[in-house]
Amino acid sequence: MFQSFDQTAASAVPAWASHVVDQGWDRFTAEDHAVWDTLYTRQVRLLEGRIVSPFLDGLGLLDLGAPGVPELGRLNRRLEARTGWRCVAVPGLVPDEAFFAMLASQVFPVGNFIRTRAQLDYLDEPDCFHDIFGHVPMLAHAGIAQAMEQVGRLGLRAIAAGHGGWVARLYWYTIEFGLCREAGEVRILGAGLASSFGEAQASLEDAAVERRRFSVAEAVATPYRNDIMQPLYFVADSLEAAVEALATAEF
Ligand SMILES: [Fe+2]
Repeated sequence: MFQSFDQTAASAVPAWASHVVDQGWDRFTAEDHAVWDTLYTRQVRLLEGRIVSPFLDGLGLLDLGAPGVPELGRLNRRLEARTGWRCVAVPGLVPDEAFFAMLASQVFPVGNFIRTRAQLDYLDEPDCFHDIFGHVPMLAHAGIAQAMEQVGRLGLRAIAAGHGGWVARLYWYTIEFGLCREAGEVRILGAGLASSFGEAQASLEDAAVERRRFSVAEAVATPYRNDIMQPLYFVADSLEAAVEALATAEF
């Protein structure tokens, strides 16, 4: 009887929960909040006219322009009301399987730390500015949020089948570093670009980088490096086309 009770209790807690920590919002200093404000103001100014419009809408819908590092409880009240998604804090990168399991559960992990002022332009691992500013505005929109949930399920299936690299490349070339057309122009889609001052500009304006029409087949066949500015970006025909591709991709 007790054994059965224990099994029930264990199965109610998903394995990814072991990666979740308290955000510890009270530990952010005045300087941390000022760094967020500097990054936010600079990036919104840069992204106007360069990023797909649902991203900018999402900033407003979630009130991400309020001063300081967002407190996750407050952010989640707005986000959950819109799409059922919520953010949880993590101390650093989450292993791929746990990460995709979170997405499949409508949970997005965000770092519980922010870069220093000396790191405004580059950081080795994603902090809360990348995770919240870069990713979460898109999760305020039902169709995009549903596609992200599908990507979570796809990621779990792919990893279980030994195709973790396949899904990592798909994720990389769309959700992190994707471009897409909107209103006749190439615009930023991915969070890695949305949260980067230098690469947001280079991805659209640097004549030396390659912009290739997106297809799932080409993206998943293309290796990437995560420690350099990307020499190649994939451009989807539209945001809707990218979302549809992510929602229906199969390895
Ligand atoms: Fe990211």
